[in-house]
Formats: sequence, C-alpha cells, structure tokens
Amino acid sequence: MRVAALVLAAGRGERFGAPVPKAFLSLGGRPLVVRAIEALAARPEIERIVPVLPAADLARWNALARDFAGARKLAEAVAGGAQRQDSMRAGLATLPADLEWVAVHDAARPLLRAEQVGRVLDAAARTGAALLAVPVRDTLKRVDAGRITATLDRSETWAAQTPQVFRISLLRAALAKADADGFIGTDEAQLVERLGVPVAVAEGDVRNLKITWPEDLELAEAIWRQRG
Ligand code: C5P
Repeated sequence: MRVAALVLAAGRGERFGAPVPKAFLSLGGRPLVVRAIEALAARPEIERIVPVLPAADLARWNALARDFAGARKLAEAVAGGAQRQDSMRAGLATLPADLEWVAVHDAARPLLRAEQVGRVLDAAARTGAALLAVPVRDTLKRVDAGRITATLDRSETWAAQTPQVFRISLLRAALAKADADGFIGTDEAQLVERLGVPVAVAEGDVRNLKITWPEDLELAEAIWRQRG
C-alpha cells in the first residue's frame, strides 16, 4: 500500500483564540503539526506527507527546523483555503500519480499513534475507504432554539476522527460531486458517503482528540507526559 498523507493545518483556530496559529501551538515542545506528521511518518506505507497551512504561515513553516522524525517524507507545504474542504482540495491537487491512497489527517490531532494509523490503513485496504471513529459516550440530542427535538440512538452514534483513508481516485470523484452540488462537508468521509460508497470504521482512540479549545491542549499535554 503506497500512501500519501495530507495534514490539514490551515484552520484559523478561532475557537482556541491563541496569538499563534493553532498548528504552531506546542505539545511537548514541538508544534502540533509536527507531532501529527511524526505519527504518520512512523508508518512505512506513508511515503509522502503534504502539510496544508494558512498562506500567511508558509514562511513560518519553511523556517522551522526539520530535525524531527519523518521530515524526510515531507513534500512542499501548500496553502489551504477558507473551508477545510478547500484545504483538502489544495493538498489533493499536489499528489503524484504513482500513489494510489491518501490519508487525510487533522493537524489538530497530534496524539495520533502509529498503531491507529495501521488499523485505518488495513480497513481501507480491504474496503477502499475507512476512518477512525469511537463510540459516542454521551447521549446526543438534536436541539433547536434551546429545546430538544430528537434523541439520537447512542448505540448507533460514533465520533469520526482522522486519519480518513481513501483510494485517491475515489476521494477525487467524491470531491468533484460535492463541488458540482455546492456541498461542503465537515469531513472527507461525508463526501464519499454522498457517492453511495460505504466507508468502513476502524477502532479509534479517545486520546486521539482534536484540539479545539484551550482545555483540550491541557488534556493533550497530560496525555503526552504520561506517555513518557
Ligand atoms: O475546523 P475543524 O475543527 O474542522 O479543523 C480540523 C482540521 O482542519 C484542523 O487541523 C484545521 O487546521 C484544518 N482546517 C484546514 N483548513 C480550513 C479549516 C480547517 O486545514 N479552512
């Protein structure tokens, strides 16, 4: 399996509210985007890693020391766009024709581990499309104007994580359909689902959390320290 990885780091991180872009916040002394790259690079199947950064931060990225694990797999960083889907499109456009698979990962998930990547790669190799997900622990409510309108069946609810892994041709077709329909999704699987193609679920880990709020980074630091 020959895989390219897109590391999406072009979000503004407005909810976090830090003075530096979220991808450059530090976890264990390294930027989140570097931590995400290290986890992906630990897998031999992943041959090439494309960071997708805000256009305004490309110079900051290029100035960063490349003395981390996996740096030799790095491709030139590309500028992302306004929506996550735009950033993914920009990364996807740079992939060479000799690779068959793409793993799309949030830079905001720096605690990813190589064995989790292995599980989602295996699931995708069997089926063509897969993501990491965890069963939801809370009961989810649909709420409108402060009132509950529905309760989702918890036994059927999962929280999608990344990486999400696809045959590149499949993700390109899914993106083309979304673009033609003017549809914007919040993850890649949603675009593939719209083609009517099933997406397999591989076992994720709650520790592969997405850093959105400052308290998420505190939790991530605690998990990082515990790893030793
Ligand atoms: O905003 P959201 O939680 O969906 O962000 C998930 C990941 O997607 C983050 O790592 C963020 O940097 C990235 N993203 C992006 N381009 C955007 C918005 C989000 O690369 N326009």
